[in-house]
Amino acid sequence: MKKNTQKITAIILASGKGERLKNEIPKQFTKLAGYPVILHTLKSFQSSEYIDEIIIVTLQKYLEETKFLCMDNNISKTSKVLKGGSTRQKSSEIGIKACSEDTAYVLIHDAVRPFISLKIIKDLVTNVKIHKSVDTIIPTADTIVEINSKGFINSIPDRANLMRGQTPQAFEYNLIREAHSNARKKNIKAATDDCSLVLKLRKKIFTVPGDVQNIKITYPLDLELADKLFQLRSISSKKILSKKRINLLKNKVFIIIGGTSGLGLAIKKELQKHGCKIYALSRNTNPPINISNFRQVNKVLKEIYRNEGKIDYIINSAGDMLNKKIEETSVKDWDYIYDINIKGPFNISKAAIPILKKQKSGELIFISSSSYTRGRQGYAAYSSSKAALVNFCQALAEELIDDNIKVKILNPSRANTPLRNRVFGVENPKSLLNPKKVATRIYDIIFTDTTGSVFDIN
Ligand code: CTP
Ligand code: MG
Repeated sequence: MKKNTQKITAIILASGKGERLKNEIPKQFTKLAGYPVILHTLKSFQSSEYIDEIIIVTLQKYLEETKFLCMDNNISKTSKVLKGGSTRQKSSEIGIKACSEDTAYVLIHDAVRPFISLKIIKDLVTNVKIHKSVDTIIPTADTIVEINSKGFINSIPDRANLMRGQTPQAFEYNLIREAHSNARKKNIKAATDDCSLVLKLRKKIFTVPGDVQNIKITYPLDLELADKLFQLRSISSKKILSKKRINLLKNKVFIIIGGTSGLGLAIKKELQKHGCKIYALSRNTNPPINISNFRQVNKVLKEIYRNEGKIDYIINSAGDMLNKKIEETSVKDWDYIYDINIKGPFNISKAAIPILKKQKSGELIFISSSSYTRGRQGYAAYSSSKAALVNFCQALAEELIDDNIKVKILNPSRANTPLRNRVFGVENPKSLLNPKKVATRIYDIIFTDTTGSVFDIN
């Protein structure tokens, strides 16, 4: 353990009502990629070596829930969970006053900025020791216009000198206490950040670069954006496959349904390199599996579980396509596509749930399609079934979260598979994704600690 002569405490503000988001539950507790927004935030401070202690200020109604959240998720640096105030400024002051005597510096952060990076935390801590007050800022892309009360422009300041303030903001402990008591004396009540209170003391404040991804979830659109950012992070980070990670795959039991051709086969070939036990199954294997048939799926999964004693991952790549306008689609065509593409995943889940629940672990990975976001002519049966699959997986993820079972959705764009070739004939291979490329992304998915997330692969 580090000597705590200069203890650094993170104060996480989570006592807002989120009125602009208009969500049923306050935005800091809304689920994002399977977990409450605040948990993503807390995980960053927990894992930063620069932070010694965490104090959370939250709503009365969520005090107990927040404590449990910390316990269940090993946010062990949390020393206090306190009831907040009616304004951000009050909540912040409550957190500051609750710091123990040996606190030398504090970082004050909005719980609703879940993308806070370890780098920003490090930069703030390094600089607060030199400058006593540090803000996190990013440039503004829009021109900022100052208006008067009648809506007319007063001035248009030079954009080069205008920055947007984010959090965390870092302070020497005694200085920020003084700033808050000064604000109280001067009847300043509704500061939306802490630096503005330090400015009132005419003290200098240093700045460090923030990050465009360090967004504050404020409006409904921000939640959509945050969801997308989570996917991008896990996909674009191109995690280097460390030996340690690869070793985690050893002896893992994978069932790949639809694992004998196309994307399923490519994923099998990729995973095979790492000493995992893989059951690549299809309608033509022994045992055969037709995912439209619950009894068959159930029997096969039970048999594998009996033989192996566990199932770690079930990947479903089985599905079918149809390229027909609605008026040309027969009822039989329709039923067939829905039987495979959506009833199939239901059957797999239904058969897998008792097994995975018993083990209290496991992952279900379903392959959907990038076409799920928008219907196009000729695609109604196919893309609507894939949209249904995404929706189904999101519900499943929520239902299984407490059992430590994860559900993930892989959404490749058009891939060069035998299935696609059969339905669409010869196409320019350059316009299609190589299944091998899709397969190498399986690691990003497996090693991402979220559930209910959609992973787009283009
Ligand atoms: N906050 C707080 N106590 C308050 C108000 C806000 O701890 N009385 C926290 C929020 O929980 C949030 C951060 O301060 O993490 C930034 O505030 P903001 O984005 O304004 O959140 P809300 O006040 O919840 O949202 P709104 O203003 O839309 O109601
Ligand atoms: Mg607010």
